Amino acid sequence: MKKTHIPIRPMLDGEADRCEQILRSLPEWFGIGEAIVEYRRDIGTMDTYVAETSGEIAGFITLNQHNESSAEINVIAVRKEHHGHGLGRALVEHAEQLLRSRSVEYLEVKTLGPSRPNEHYERTRSSYFALGFRPLEENKLWGEVNPCLIMIKHL
Ligand SMILES: CC(C)(COP(=O)(O)OP(=O)(O)OC[C@H]1O[C@@H](n2cnc3c(N)ncnc32)[C@H](O)[C@@H]1OP(=O)(O)O)[C@@H](O)C(=O)NCCC(=O)NCCS
Repeated sequence: MKKTHIPIRPMLDGEADRCEQILRSLPEWFGIGEAIVEYRRDIGTMDTYVAETSGEIAGFITLNQHNESSAEINVIAVRKEHHGHGLGRALVEHAEQLLRSRSVEYLEVKTLGPSRPNEHYERTRSSYFALGFRPLEENKLWGEVNPCLIMIKHL
């Protein structure tokens, strides 16, 4: 099936609140209040790109470049009613293109690991897998209760 082009652009000043609202609309994934506060700060300070549909921000991605070789998807979220319509792919591919232009070689993302079964994060991991990310390791960065899976993609 031919996919329609989804335009991605840098987030503008004043749009971080809209991105925070998207996180707050996804409590199955972003249920920890302090984490949302941290993400809100990161959205404002790190490179953030948004996907628009019908003139509305429907998803965003925030990137953290750790060093000249590697970067991380700090946070990515798409409004629930738009899941599965290609916005996530468009956001990730935009980020990849930008990072390749800076000669960055690796893109990582951290998510809830499979040792704590969760149907929502299982979908998230499947999406990352479909986008070319592979599991690197599960660790206890977020404590015993929330196993952290690092997934990585060679750009
Ligand atoms: C994860 C997320 C950003 C992906 O965005 P999206 O717009 O739904 O993703 P897309 O429609 O572009 O799909 C991306 C790929 O994942 C695949 N995919 C999606 N759900 C899948 C599933 N349940 N099983 C297998 N593959 C799946 C799609 O088929 C697509 O691959 P394709 O282009 O080769 O067909 C979005 O679903 C989201 O916001 N989820 C909730 C928040 C979240 O999980 N954030 C990350 C926290 S670590």
